[in-house]
Amino acid sequence: MNVQGKHYRTIWLKQDDPTVVQIIDQQLLPYHFVVVDLTTVAQMATAIADMQLRGAGLIGAAAGYGMYLAALQAPTGSVPAFMASVAADGDTLKATRPTAVNLAWAVDRQLQAIAAAPDDIRAKIDAARRTAEAIADEDAEFCRRIGQHGVRLIEEISRRKGGQAVNVLTHCNAGWLAFVDFGSATAPIYAAHDAGIPVHVWVDETRPRNQGARLTAWELGQHGVPHTVIADNTGGHLMQHGMVDLVIVGTDRTLYTGDVANKIGTYLKALAAHDNGVPFYVALPSSSFDWEKRDGVKEIPIEQRGATEVKLMHGLYRGEAVEVLVTPEDSPAANYAFDVTPARLVTGLVTERGICEANEGSILNLYPEKKQH
Ligand code: MRU
Repeated sequence: MNVQGKHYRTIWLKQDDPTVVQIIDQQLLPYHFVVVDLTTVAQMATAIADMQLRGAGLIGAAAGYGMYLAALQAPTGSVPAFMASVAADGDTLKATRPTAVNLAWAVDRQLQAIAAAPDDIRAKIDAARRTAEAIADEDAEFCRRIGQHGVRLIEEISRRKGGQAVNVLTHCNAGWLAFVDFGSATAPIYAAHDAGIPVHVWVDETRPRNQGARLTAWELGQHGVPHTVIADNTGGHLMQHGMVDLVIVGTDRTLYTGDVANKIGTYLKALAAHDNGVPFYVALPSSSFDWEKRDGVKEIPIEQRGATEVKLMHGLYRGEAVEVLVTPEDSPAANYAFDVTPARLVTGLVTERGICEANEGSILNLYPEKKQH
């Protein structure tokens, strides 16, 4: 994705020092564009937990690079000591955030690759680096393909509307910033815009951390996509008045049965879409599927974050990034970070392999190698 005309991914190895991982500090966006160096697993774990980087795909890529940093830092005296250290760092990374399944998926993929490399520490470090790069490249490529499949939905609506702008509503940031490139929910939007199909995006602000207002709006703006930020509760009204043609959201974990965990508030958008006959799609790369759990509401762990994220709001005041209290000082606040949208409310899933219905049969037809359940 281009930022002021220059192409960036959201995570990469420093050009002249491949022992350093570089990320864009998302805590500072949209006010400041700052690239941060990470050289230790502890720094990577903090970056994930504090949401300097965030979003399911990027969390997965960060876990991949985090495991490469783990390999670089591990003791070199013996292979068993090296492996034990890397495995312990994997547990540290996995503990940072519970809901996005990409995190554990990437750590486990790295552990397998490092274990499978020849019994030589240099070879194991090289394998960790190759695997981190492969996870990142795959994420970018899968999101590109999600765009190619998902753009058909927008094209079809555009044809039906005689070329009038297609209004897409999205929640949170499932954009380029939440992945390595392109994004999941935004990939079809960028593909449509690049193909000259008029598209306009309703951007849910996404309290409490405002990933929509701060991040989605910023990246759509950088790409020149027309958009309007709305307060979280606006979507239902817009749908009742025919002002939303399509909802596309991302997901932090989708079960092979079709239940979808995504940023808190997604469920309410799905209910409103269902009530108003608005198609509700979820875009995801296969790294966001959970092939084990069956019942989203009962089984998906929902992260609870600190109350201060609800009580304080960040913003820019006279050029300075500040935070202000928006509740009575003593009121307690609860901060459930995700909710689950049952499969019955989801029109379809847009994956790197194509579009399918949100049910076990349709999902497993796209991923037949997972059929052993
Ligand atoms: O808590 P965050 O910002 O990491 O939230 C995760 C998300 O980015 C969203 O829920 C998103 O829609 C999922 S798609 C990456």
